[in-house]
Amino acid sequence: MKFSRTILSATAVVVAASALGTVASSKTTSASAAYYTAAQATSGQKEYATECASCHGVKLEGVKAPALAGEGMAGSQSVADIYYFMQQQMPAGAPGSLSAAKYASIMAYILKKNGHPAGKVMLTAASVKKITAKI
Ligand code: HEC
Repeated sequence: MKFSRTILSATAVVVAASALGTVASSKTTSASAAYYTAAQATSGQKEYATECASCHGVKLEGVKAPALAGEGMAGSQSVADIYYFMQQQMPAGAPGSLSAAKYASIMAYILKKNGHPAGKVMLTAASVKKITAKI
């Protein structure tokens, strides 16, 4: 099960996360497009803190729920699939309760924390569905 696997590897993720920082950003600058704006990620950080951090951790490290950044997350699923799951199922207890704009900005923040660069075009519910690249 995904949840227990993530918990078991949580220590490894914490250890790897600090090392990953520089590697992930140099890796993604060449490989990944800019999917979101910096302003979006900033508002996404606030939404995330209110709606998601209680379970997923302030640093996306995973507390009562899987980590959303770091080794367990990177390369695991497409950005489109993660977004789809999140807007259908999250926040657990109130699925689908946020606006499309809030889901998009939270996704922008999650992309940022997984080493993706900010750019000039906003992430939207329509654009995110086309991102078949792994996070
Ligand atoms: C009440 C606790 C809780 C809250 C609040 C919550 N989640 Fe979750 N989340 C979970 C649990 C538990 C899972 C694992 C569910 C599963 O695997 O079926 C999960 C899974 C996920 C996943 C899939 C992770 C993976 O590895 O596939 C994503 C993405 C996610 N949540 C995003 C969010 C976002 C974004 C928010 C805020 C809008 C949020 N969650 C709020 C409990 C929560």
